[in-house]
Amino acid sequence: MIYSRIEGTGRYLPSKVMTNFDLEKIVDTSDEWIRTRTGVERRHIAADDQATSDIGFEAAKEAIKNAGIDKEDIDLIVVGTTTPDYVFPNVGTLIQDRLGIHGCPAFSVEAACSGFVYALSVADKFIKTGGAKCALVIGAEVMTRLIDWGDRNTCVLFGDGAGAVILKPSSEAGILDCNLGADGKYKDLLLYPAGPSKNFHKMGTGEIGLEMSGNDVFRVAVKTLGNVAEEALIANNIDKQELDWLVPHQANLRIIQATAKRLDLPIEKVILTVQDHGNTSSASIPMALDVGIRDGRIQRGQLILMEAFGGGFTWGTVLMRY
Ligand code: ACO
Repeated sequence: MIYSRIEGTGRYLPSKVMTNFDLEKIVDTSDEWIRTRTGVERRHIAADDQATSDIGFEAAKEAIKNAGIDKEDIDLIVVGTTTPDYVFPNVGTLIQDRLGIHGCPAFSVEAACSGFVYALSVADKFIKTGGAKCALVIGAEVMTRLIDWGDRNTCVLFGDGAGAVILKPSSEAGILDCNLGADGKYKDLLLYPAGPSKNFHKMGTGEIGLEMSGNDVFRVAVKTLGNVAEEALIANNIDKQELDWLVPHQANLRIIQATAKRLDLPIEKVILTVQDHGNTSSASIPMALDVGIRDGRIQRGQLILMEAFGGGFTWGTVLMRY
């Protein structure tokens, strides 16, 4: 049996930091409100000349270094992002070019905050079927470009960042199971209502911004994530107690706590980074994974559940041994 296994991870956060106290000067909010409702304390903001491919490239370089591979070995690039540099070329090809490698397939997967889990699931299938021997999988976003900085309901939640992993075949587990889902009936609860084929003229004008029905998103996210996390364990005959780490999408501390509770997991077994960068959409899981591995908490052979939920709605879980 061939598994795909994470050989190295990397992350990058832009240097500019905006704290909750900075936000107090922009909108009618408070550090106390933001912290108690979301867990977020600060977020990083990409520089004006930094695009998603730039920050994704930085995370990719770290992952390549930490995996100890030659960049020429990479034969697949998959990027989860909702905030691409251009409509085309896709972010994967832009990062491929920055890395100075040529010829391997490179593409982006658009699934909002579930983007990395979707991208990882695609790369896992390439590796398991022999279609790739060394995949670079990235989650990278500049979410703050979609934000209406006058809307306190949403502007306090998001930040920019990138995370990356190198995936290779292994006879040892490895990714055990990926499960993806979506339900477009919820499309109006969380959206940026413009793109190349709709309301194009409004993009980037300040006329529109990210729209969210916060309470509804919260309710469906908690229920769905709890269900899919439990289902992932049941489908793989794994008892809740066997889980070493939950590496969740970092959107909101209260959503994460609710999922941990459904899994009977103490919060000490959850990798939490939301306080440091807010919701970075598809970048949040690979960044949290990198934090847990780099600080020595996540050890080889341990059992990890990653879970994500985002606009669409989309969702997904990845169960793996590191
Ligand atoms: N500062 C101060 N007050 C605020 C702010 C703010 N930044 N934002 C909203 N409020 C006010 C509201 O106007 C409202 O005031 P009112 O009662 O006078 O009308 C009050 O706070 C309560 O608002 P609620 O929306 O009920 O607050 P709630 O406790 O639901 O928290 C939040 C809002 C944090 C957005 C929550 O609903 C949430 O986390 N939802 C999930 C959203 C999310 O995670 N989205 C990310 C994308 S999806 C994903 O990644 C999972």
